[in-house]
Amino acid sequence: MARLDVTETFHHISFPGHIHTQDSLNYALHFKFQDRDTVIATYPKSGTTWMQEVVTLVKNRGDPQLSKTVPNWARAPWLEQYYSEKVLGATQGPRIITTHLPYNLLASALQGSKAKVIYVARNPKDVVVSYYHFHKMAKFLPEPNSFDEFLDGFLEGTVSYGSWFDHVKGWTRQAEVLANVLYISYEEMWLDLRGSMEKISAFLQCPLVGEELTSSLRHCSFSSMRDNTMVNYTLVPQEIMDHSKGKFMRKGKIGDWRNTFTEDQICFFDTVYSQQMQGCPLTFLWEC
Ligand code: A3P
Repeated sequence: MARLDVTETFHHISFPGHIHTQDSLNYALHFKFQDRDTVIATYPKSGTTWMQEVVTLVKNRGDPQLSKTVPNWARAPWLEQYYSEKVLGATQGPRIITTHLPYNLLASALQGSKAKVIYVARNPKDVVVSYYHFHKMAKFLPEPNSFDEFLDGFLEGTVSYGSWFDHVKGWTRQAEVLANVLYISYEEMWLDLRGSMEKISAFLQCPLVGEELTSSLRHCSFSSMRDNTMVNYTLVPQEIMDHSKGKFMRKGKIGDWRNTFTEDQICFFDTVYSQQMQGCPLTFLWEC
């Protein structure tokens, strides 16, 4: 099967060319955010789809109608992908917008905006393992060789969407200083989805009560999302995502990296991590 893994380089970062163009990336940089927009920002494989589901349910007060009938990329479109101008330009009312762009590329577009931004990060050992498996099934990403080689690229920041370190440091710094940017980790959601949902719904000024919260929790569980064709990416044609090579909703766990990393890789990772994160107050739950 032919691969679609052409690369679009933009501001020294590689993006999958199958779904990004210079025009769409530039459109994102000059996007006019509206005060009622909700922006979900993530590095890939950090819980993007999960947050799209959470925000959809919060905004719909637990009513699953939208999440069961409209694909996530249509109800929470990507800001930087080729279709964004057509889709976002035509959307009336409060929008849910998703982005994998690093903060520095959106800083000027977000300057002075009251749009609410939710930034989700995940411990990077689980991110890199999830990303490696995703590269095997997503035909718009380069076919990976060994995990060792992929890990090198991840730590160097040469993989698609650039450096995890720059991404996480850039966005979380904003969450420390701006009231309209909320930081939450994948692990916090995993350990306490109810508390996370309450935190997010309060941030979005849409607090959920009773059955609204219960229903939201039910539809955002891993098993519900794994079986929901609107979020598990099985609607995407086989030539773009080959589900025989792996599932998008793969494991959904904390600490799965233990099954992949060798002792040498752990050592190398930890050395690079401590250099790159020096002075950064963030901490992660690596396993539980
Ligand atoms: P794994 O590959 O480790 O299973 P993204 O949406 O940013 O691409 O992230 C995908 C990762 O989030 C996958 O991780 C996926 O299984 C996990 N995920 C998605 N929904 C989840 C949920 N409801 N609970 C736990 N993990 C979830």
